[in-house]
Amino acid sequence: MRRPEAEAALKHEFVEELGQASRLSSVLTVPRYLQDAYWWAYVHPNAVRVFERQWLVNAILWGNFARLRDAALDEMGSPVTGRSLQVACVYGDLTLQLADRMVAGATLDIADVLPVQLSNLSRKLAGRRGVSLLHRDSTALGFSDGSYDQVLLFFLLHEQPEAVRRQTLAEAVRVTRRGGRIVVVDYHRPHWLHPLYYLFRPVLARLEPYALDLWRRDIGAWLPDDMPVAIRSARTFFGGLYQQLTLIRE
Ligand SMILES: C[S@@+](CC[C@H](N)C(=O)[O-])C[C@H]1O[C@@H](n2cnc3c(N)ncnc32)[C@H](O)[C@@H]1O
Repeated sequence: MRRPEAEAALKHEFVEELGQASRLSSVLTVPRYLQDAYWWAYVHPNAVRVFERQWLVNAILWGNFARLRDAALDEMGSPVTGRSLQVACVYGDLTLQLADRMVAGATLDIADVLPVQLSNLSRKLAGRRGVSLLHRDSTALGFSDGSYDQVLLFFLLHEQPEAVRRQTLAEAVRVTRRGGRIVVVDYHRPHWLHPLYYLFRPVLARLEPYALDLWRRDIGAWLPDDMPVAIRSARTFFGGLYQQLTLIRE
């Protein structure tokens, strides 16, 4: 159990790191879709205790966590330089490995709408340098245009209803500098001959109500019209159930 003084230190740390964001954080509310569809995974006070297990995250991804994590990391750079943004916390060691790949002077901001997730990630990061945790909503990040060299969205888009997903992508593109990268890893429509095709569909439909959108349409469908991007690379994994898409802001 976290000691009260540690809790206080953590709050203090957020305020220190947030600066202006500490003011914004007081007006942020938990998005409706997150409360309704994902309370059990992220919002409930016991969620972190249950899900912060890499073997469990790996099981949820049918044994593909390391492969997908490494695909995302490799697209973020090797080593990672400049200013990076990860939109939304992730269970497991993705962010730790991202931070460990950073050269001296590189920075990593992680924005999430749930303080409980930021606290958990702060604990995992154990004081790594150059990393800041920010209480923000992905649909209104509040950063200046072109603030980042690369932005990562790891399994966030499938959790959001279409209108929210569209806003998240618009914000990700907006805060990426021209020539910078937006790296997305998420669900994708598997090949119909995939032996588990008819198992994936009902499982996703039951547990992840917006995920099947990514079976129906390409991510390009939700990109903003007024901020052009080019596809740098696109791959699928595990018979097409997952995808990695890297976009360049033009
Ligand atoms: C990245 S997604 C899922 C990642 C993956 N399933 C995992 O955790 O291993 C989960 C995170 O997204 C965050 N999130 C969801 N909607 C958000 C929003 N509108 N703004 C910021 N963070 C959001 C949740 O608070 C949660 O921490």
